[in-house]
Amino acid sequence: MSMHADKPLSIVVLISGNGSNLQAIIDDIAKNNDNACITAVISNRPDVYGLVRAKAADIPTRVIDHTGFDDRLSFDQALQDCIDEYQPGLIILAGFMRILSPTFVSHYHGRMINIHPSLLPEFTGVNTHQRVLDAGRTEHGVSIHFVTEELDGGPVICQSRIQVKANDTSKSLAMRLQIEEHRLYPIVVQWIANHRLYQTGHQVVFDEHVLEAPVDLTESSPS
Ligand code: GRF
Repeated sequence: MSMHADKPLSIVVLISGNGSNLQAIIDDIAKNNDNACITAVISNRPDVYGLVRAKAADIPTRVIDHTGFDDRLSFDQALQDCIDEYQPGLIILAGFMRILSPTFVSHYHGRMINIHPSLLPEFTGVNTHQRVLDAGRTEHGVSIHFVTEELDGGPVICQSRIQVKANDTSKSLAMRLQIEEHRLYPIVVQWIANHRLYQTGHQVVFDEHVLEAPVDLTESSPS
């Protein structure tokens, strides 16, 4: 039974590809979270597997194909119009591979989260696994953050760390990190749906305290 009498948090998920994070969130909402509901999945690419996952879960899907627009601003406007039809309380970027304009981002201030495969603020941008290997790091990880105008620069909510092994490749790191992504994203969605977490300015409030550092959700390694 729901802890809150108010309406479930209405969520729009933006994807560009496989949608395994979308799947983790769909599954968790179905099992554990009746305070949240995904009202639409929007992809900037047609024919991606994430759209199949959404349809299998009876979630409405939309495609706003960025290749059909002359510039970023007109794509962002079309995307914004589409999202706003659903009046979501939360927009989740789940492998959404488009850089969003400042106007778009500020329209959703405090309502948009992203998952990024690095221990932010380190390794913003793409190819994080290879760059972690190239830099000789022994630790890698995943971050979930509120989205602000700065690319991968919004306040970080939580992180999980993994150890880099001597024989790791960018593929093996990506695979281990995805397990963490699928564990963390549903947790954050629950926190927001249960009103335990929100953004104010450049800060994150969690259980009524301003976060001084990201919540560390690293799983203790098996002994
Ligand atoms: C994830 O690895 C995420 O960190 C990155 O894009 C990938 C999306 O994977 N932002 P999926 O589409 O959720 O399977």
